[in-house]
This record gives sequence, structure tokens and C-alpha cells, in this order.
Amino acid sequence: MTIVLDVENITMRFGGLTAVKDVSFKLQTGEVLAVIGPNGAGKSTLFNVITGVYRPTAGNVHFNGKEITGKPSHEIVRRGIARTFQSSRLFSDLSVIDNVIVGMHSRTKTGVLRALFHPGFSRREMAASVRKAEALLLNSSGDLFEQRYRPAGALAQADRRRLEIARALASEPMLLLLDEPSVGMDDNETDALINDIRRVRAANSSLAVVVIEHDMRVVEAFPDHVLCVDYGSRVAEGGFDTVRSDPRVQEAYLGKAAAHA
Ligand SMILES: Nc1ncnc2c1ncn2[C@@H]1O[C@H](COP(=O)(O)OP(=O)(O)O)[C@@H](O)[C@H]1O
Ligand SMILES: [Mg+2]
Repeated sequence: MTIVLDVENITMRFGGLTAVKDVSFKLQTGEVLAVIGPNGAGKSTLFNVITGVYRPTAGNVHFNGKEITGKPSHEIVRRGIARTFQSSRLFSDLSVIDNVIVGMHSRTKTGVLRALFHPGFSRREMAASVRKAEALLLNSSGDLFEQRYRPAGALAQADRRRLEIARALASEPMLLLLDEPSVGMDDNETDALINDIRRVRAANSSLAVVVIEHDMRVVEAFPDHVLCVDYGSRVAEGGFDTVRSDPRVQEAYLGKAAAHA
């Protein structure tokens, strides 16, 4: 097995606040890692460090054996890491399909705006992009394909989350980072999301996924490798059953969730 992502001793401070404290983990090709932990634990900050939004205060990140610590986000996307955001970053005035096409070209030299509007973008290239985008939309649960000419801003919440994933996949990543993809989804939509992730992995067995999740349904569906963080630090790591039964995890996270159940 090859290590696709190696996060070593990452610390991220914002002024006096330590959002991530000495966190390390490794991810193998084709593996799914679920990251859990209460609000404010530092999960999204970890994604922001991996994707070059922030340069960490300490530590480093290797992707495919090469150091990417602090590299610009567009460079990191180009190397094969795609992400979704906890709060939607879709272009709400653009159509569903154009949002996917934008994702496709975030990796090419052509660039986002030129891809859509540059006259040099040949009709054949455009037709190929449209077909690829349509295939991604057809692959998603729900009816994104049928809604492909609607503005993204008009979509229901669950469809917006699905579209974000389709757009991330459009860049053909080797590593997909999903930040709370089930937020705003009901149980049926969450089950469909789980199936979507499974289908994507079945089609590309080398794709590695890190999913930040609050919904234990999703974590249980990918139980092999779970990392729990709290107050920026790693609390536990291992299989879902091991992590779930760790008293520190129950105290940090599951206890709180159980108290609300
Ligand atoms: N850019 C920033 N500037 C200052 N504080 C931040 C910034 N980003 C995140 N934080 C803080 O870091 C902590 C971890 O945030 P975050 O990573 O978003 O947590 P999680 O995703 O686990 O809910 C929080 O206290 C948050 O307020
Ligand atoms: Mg977050």
C-alpha cells in the first residue's frame, strides 16, 4: 500500500488560539478516513492546512511523497486534491452543469473563466466537457442531471451538497476532502450520500477520501479508519468500534451526541 497523504505534526495557531495541535495521520491510496470531533475541534482548519488555505504554524504535509506544505491552493488542486466546503461555495448564478465544468478546469492551465468564455476553447473541447459533466451529474443520487440548466442557487440544500461533490470530482482528484457533506440532509438523503461515495470509490479504487462528519451513519459506513479530534488535538484513531468505545471520545463527542438523542 502506498501512502497518498502524510500529515505530520501539524499545529495551526490563530493569534492566541491553537486550532490544531500537533496532529499527525497517514492515508493510504484508496482509503477512507472519517474525521470526527465536536464543533470547533479544528477539523475544517486541518482541511484548510492540507489545501493550502493556511500555512501551518508547525508541521508539514506530503502528498504522493512530495511536500505541499503552504503551497498555493490552485497548485494543490492541480496535484490532485479536491475538496468541498462546510458552507457551499458554488457559483449560485451559474447553471448546475457550468459549476461542474468550472470544477473540471480548475486543474487545467486554461483556468476557470477562460474555460467558460474563452473563444479559443474549441467546440469539440466544450462538447467533451459537457458530456463529462453530464456523466458526473448522472452518477449522483437525486436528479441533478435533470436540473442541469437551473442556476445552482435554486437547488435544494441536499442537491447543492451533491453538486459540490460532483464539482470536486470533476478535477479527477486522487484525494477527495469532504467537509460535513451530510449537513442539511435527512436520513434518506444521507443514505444516498453514502451510496454516492461508495459508487465513486467503486469506479476509482485508488481514490482516497477524508470525510469530516457529525452524522454517525456516515462514519459507520466507512468504519476502517476514524480519527477523533478535540480542542485541536488527536483524541483517538483506529477502527470505528475502537474509537467509539474510547472513553475520551465518548466524553469529547459521542457523549454529547448521546445526550441529545
Ligand atoms: N481564520 C481563523 N482565524 C481565527 N480563528 C479561526 C480561524 N479558523 C478557525 N478558527 C478557530 O479555530 C477553531 C477550530 O475551528 P474549525 O477548524 O472550524 O473547527 P471544526 O471544523 O472542527 O468545527 C475554532 O475555535 C475557530 O473559531
Ligand atoms: Mg468545520
